[in-house]
Order: sequence, then C-alpha cells, then structure tokens
Amino acid sequence: MSVAQRVAVVTGGAGGIGRAIAARLQRDGLRAALWDLDARAAREAADALSNGRNDVVIGVHADVTDEASVAAALNTTLDRFGALHVLINSAGTTGPIATGADSALGAWQRCIDVNLRSVFLCSRAAVKPMLDAGFGRIVNLASIAGKEGNPSMSAYSAAKAGVIAFTKSMGKELALTPVRVNCIAPAVIETPLLQQMTDDALAASLAKIPMQRAGTADEVANLAAWLASDTCSFSTGATFDLSGGRATY
Ligand SMILES: NC(=O)c1ccc[n+]([C@@H]2O[C@H](COP(=O)([O-])OP(=O)(O)OC[C@H]3O[C@@H](n4cnc5c(N)ncnc54)[C@H](O)[C@@H]3O)[C@@H](O)[C@H]2O)c1
Repeated sequence: MSVAQRVAVVTGGAGGIGRAIAARLQRDGLRAALWDLDARAAREAADALSNGRNDVVIGVHADVTDEASVAAALNTTLDRFGALHVLINSAGTTGPIATGADSALGAWQRCIDVNLRSVFLCSRAAVKPMLDAGFGRIVNLASIAGKEGNPSMSAYSAAKAGVIAFTKSMGKELALTPVRVNCIAPAVIETPLLQQMTDDALAASLAKIPMQRAGTADEVANLAAWLASDTCSFSTGATFDLSGGRATY
C-alpha cells in the first residue's frame, strides 16, 4: 500500500502538537481527520492545511471522552476516507494546578478522562479498522510528567503514567498483528497548552531541561511521523523521550 492511500486520525488536531503532526503527516502524503472538541478550530485547521480540499484533510467534532462521540467521529472519517491506518492520540489538558490534597474531584476526574479515558476509547475504536486495513500505527502523547510525577499536577501526571502503561499493554496485545502502539513523553513544548500552567510551574519545568529551551511542535511531529510509518517496525509498547536531555530513563 502506498503512503498516499493511508488515513490518519489526529485527536486534539486543532491544538499545537496535533496540528503540527497533521501537517507533517499530510506532507508525507497521508489524508487526515482532525478530531477536536473545538469543531470550528478543527475545520479551520483542516482548511488551512489542505487549502480547503476536504478530500485531503477534514475537521471533525469529537469529544474524545465520550464513547458515542468517538463512534460518530470514526463513522464520519470512514465515510469520507474509507479506512483508518494511523491514530495520533494528542487531545489533552493539564487539569488542576493544585496539590493532590487540594484538588477538587470533578477537575481531577476530568483531567483523567481527557488524557487517559480518551486514549482507551479512541484506540479501542481504531483497532478493528486497522486490522481490516492490514496496517496500523497508534501514537499516544504521554508526558515526562507521567514518568516523574510533577508537583501540583497529580491528575495530569497520573493520567500520563496511565497512558504509558496502556501503551505497554496494547503494544504487547497487538504485537503479532500489523499494529504498532507507542507513545511519546515530551517535556515542555511550545504550544497553547502552556497557557494553562502558572508562570512558576512553567519556569520550574524549563529549569529542569539541560538544553535550556522548550521543544517545538515540529520536533514532536518528526518523531510522531516516524512512529506512524512503516520504518517503525520493531518497536511497540515503547515510550520515546523528547525532553531536551531531562529524562534519565
Ligand atoms: N505542550 C506541552 O508542553 C506538552 C508536553 C507534554 C505532553 N503534551 C501532551 O501533548 C498533547 C497535545 O498538547 P498540546 O500542547 O498540543 O495542547 P493544546 O492545548 O494546544 O491542544 C490540545 C487540543 O485538545 C483538544 N481537546 C481537549 N479536550 C478534548 C476533548 N474532550 N475531545 C477532543 N479534543 C479535546 C483541545 O480543543 C485542543 O485543540 C496533550 O496530550 C498534552 O498533554 C504536551
């Protein structure tokens, strides 16, 4: 199968990292559906990426925490493009910036849902079309917070640790199929998500990066594009670092 026949879903596709990954996959020849809670932003991003060609990139409303919404978005995508080969789980939110002791249950749970439940729902929905297509790549956006546990970000850290473990389980479960499942654990990347952090939390995160800078969405996209490709053939269930030297494991 040529790459031009491949179809990618990018959740959070209107956001900084999702949009950069979609742009890169499109340059690589894939068609893409940008699933986002912000339907208008998803459509605008799709139009901008494809010059309005909705046979190349489409924006789709999806609440990736909601089973029915994920099913509807998948139907829309399959109706338009006929198949699904690549899933990038990029929808996310930082959640409450508060200590675990001070976090409200609702905000804590919402953060778990947007970052972790979403990965389960979208990955579960994607496996059958990928097996039908005979090729599948799932790429999950975790975070270094999931390895280290960031103070005052317990929900986010717990959710991202869950994404890392979920990736390991699914990678093993699907190892004998043509589907590979991997995740990326970035440190600070320059995107609108950073506006959800306090100045102090952001400065503390930046100070831990030996390269003394934030990463860029394009740097994430380069790694994601490789993980979405045929050349990622002997890696599954793995967590790939993107932290400017911060991660030590
Ligand atoms: N930016 C960073 O520093 C950084 C670092 C590590 C990991 N990450 C992870 O990378 C991913 C992308 O982050 P980003 O920086 O692009 O964030 P962003 O805020 O720019 O984009 C997130 C997107 O997710 C969408 N979204 C939120 N809730 C949703 C829902 N319920 N259903 C569908 N879409 C929803 C938002 O509308 C937005 O377009 C996230 O999972 C984030 O946790 C980011």
